[in-house]
Amino acid sequence: MSIPWWRDAVVYEIYVRSFADASGDGVGDLPGIRRRLPYLAELGVDAIWLTPFYPSPMNDGGYDVADYRDVDPLFGSLDDFSALVADAHAHGLRVIVDIVPNHSSSDHAWFQEALRGVGRDRYVFRDEPNNWQSTFSGPAWTQLDDGQWYLHLFAPSQPDFNWRNPVVHEEFLSILKFWLDLGVDGFRIDVAMGLYKAEGFPDVEDQSFMSVSPIWGQAEVHEVYREWRKVLDGYPGERMAVGEVWTDDPADLARYVRPDELHQSFNFAWLQAPWSPTAFRTVIDDTLATVPFATWVLSNHDVVRHRTRYGTEDPGAGLPRAKAALLTMLALPGSAYLYQGEELGLPEVTDIPDEDRQDPIFFQSKGTLPGRDGCRVPIPWSATGASHGFSPEGVKPWLPQPSVFADLSVEAQEGDEESTLAFYRRALARRRDLLKEIPYNLEWLDSPEGALFFTRGSLICAINCGLEPVRLPPHTSVTLASGPLKGDLLPPDTAVWLHAE
Ligand code: NOJ
Repeated sequence: MSIPWWRDAVVYEIYVRSFADASGDGVGDLPGIRRRLPYLAELGVDAIWLTPFYPSPMNDGGYDVADYRDVDPLFGSLDDFSALVADAHAHGLRVIVDIVPNHSSSDHAWFQEALRGVGRDRYVFRDEPNNWQSTFSGPAWTQLDDGQWYLHLFAPSQPDFNWRNPVVHEEFLSILKFWLDLGVDGFRIDVAMGLYKAEGFPDVEDQSFMSVSPIWGQAEVHEVYREWRKVLDGYPGERMAVGEVWTDDPADLARYVRPDELHQSFNFAWLQAPWSPTAFRTVIDDTLATVPFATWVLSNHDVVRHRTRYGTEDPGAGLPRAKAALLTMLALPGSAYLYQGEELGLPEVTDIPDEDRQDPIFFQSKGTLPGRDGCRVPIPWSATGASHGFSPEGVKPWLPQPSVFADLSVEAQEGDEESTLAFYRRALARRRDLLKEIPYNLEWLDSPEGALFFTRGSLICAINCGLEPVRLPPHTSVTLASGPLKGDLLPPDTAVWLHAE
C-alpha cells in the first residue's frame, strides 16, 4: 500500500479572520489567503486547514454556523473559495476545511424554526435542565419564553444538535458531499467527541475536563464517523478527516482512528505536556503505542501560544524552547499541525484592552477568563503600517497588534538567516528530504539526565530540557539545530537533528 499523503503531512492552520485581509474591512478573508499562498508554499507545508468561513453571526468567530453550504460575505464568496482551492492545489497545497457538527448558530434556519416550535427534535430540548455547565462558563441550558430549555455546550447562540435524530445524520452527509464536490481534501471535525449526550441527561459531579463522561465521548459517536468514512472513501484522491478530540485517555483517542473511522485525531497531550523530558517521552510512547497514525500539535486558535507557555517562568526561554519543541515534533513519526504565526515566533498577546476583546469566553465568564483573543491577533506581514500589512494601508485590524509585532513581521524576518522564519523554512525543507529515507518507527537511545535522544534510521534527534549542557550522541554530521551548539555539547533549551551512517 502506498503511503497516504496525510500520514506525514505538515498542516498549517489558518485562522481565517486573522491571516490576511484583502477586502479592507479589517478582517481576514479568502482572497487574502489566496494572495499569500506563495508564502505558504515557500514555507514548505503540505496542506492548509481553514477555520470556519461559513455565514455566521460571528459570536464564536465562525464556530457558530448559520449556513453550512455558503461563504460569509465577510470572507468572500463560493467563487472565491473555488478559486482558492484551485490555486492552493496549483501550489501543491491540500485544503482541509472545518466542519462543526456539534452545534449550529442560533441563526441557522433549523433553530429559527425550532424557536417557532417546529422541528425541535433536531436540537436538544427538555422541559427541565440538568446541572451541566457550558465550556465557556455558565449553565449549558437556556430557557425559552414557552418554558422549554435547549442545550448549548458552548455559547447560548450555539444550540447543540440532536444526533439521535437521523435527519441530522443525513444533513451532515450531504454537507460533507457539498464540500468534497468543491474539491476539498479533508475535514477538521470540531468537538468530534461531543455529538452524543448520555441518555437521560444525568447530572455530573465534575465537569472540569472534556473527557469520557456523561457529557462527552458517548460510544454512539463512532457510528457517525463510520458513516463519514464511507463517504470520504467514495471520493478519489485520499480525502481525509481529523478529529478535535479532547480526552486525557490515549486509549479513548485511539477509538476515533480505527480503520473505518477518522484518519487522524489531534494529539493535545503533546501540547499540554510541560517542559520535561519525562513528560515528552510519556506522551510520545503513549501515542505511538495506541494510534496507528500519530499527529502532533503545539499551538492552535484555542490555546496560549507555545512560545508564551514555555516562557511562563523565564520569558527569555520561551522562543528557544518553542524552536526546540518544533524541531523535536518534526522528527516524530506522523503528521504535524502548525498554527499561523508560530513560524514568526509570535507570542500570546496578553494586554488586549477589555473593550477590544471579542471571545465569548471573556464575556460569559464576566471577564474572569481572558479568553482566546491573545492567540488570534492578526498576522504582521510588514514591519510598519496601521495593520502591519494585514489589511490594506490605513485600515485598523479587528484586534489590535502589539508593537513587538513590527520586529516579528514577515518583512523583518525575510532574508535574515538567523530568523525564526528562516529556521522553520529550513526545518520543513530538511524534513521533506529526510522523509524519503527514514522509517516511520522511532527508537529511543540512552539519554543523559534532562535530555531525550531518539533515532529514525539515519536521523538522530536530541533535545535538552535540562539546566546543564549534555554531550551529543555519536553522529557523522549536524543537520540542523534550533540554537547554537557548543562544540560537541547540546546547550539547555536546544534541539538538534544529527545524521548517523
Ligand atoms: C473548538 C473550536 O476550536 C473553538 O474555537 C470553538 O469555540 C469550539 N470548538 C466550539 O465550536
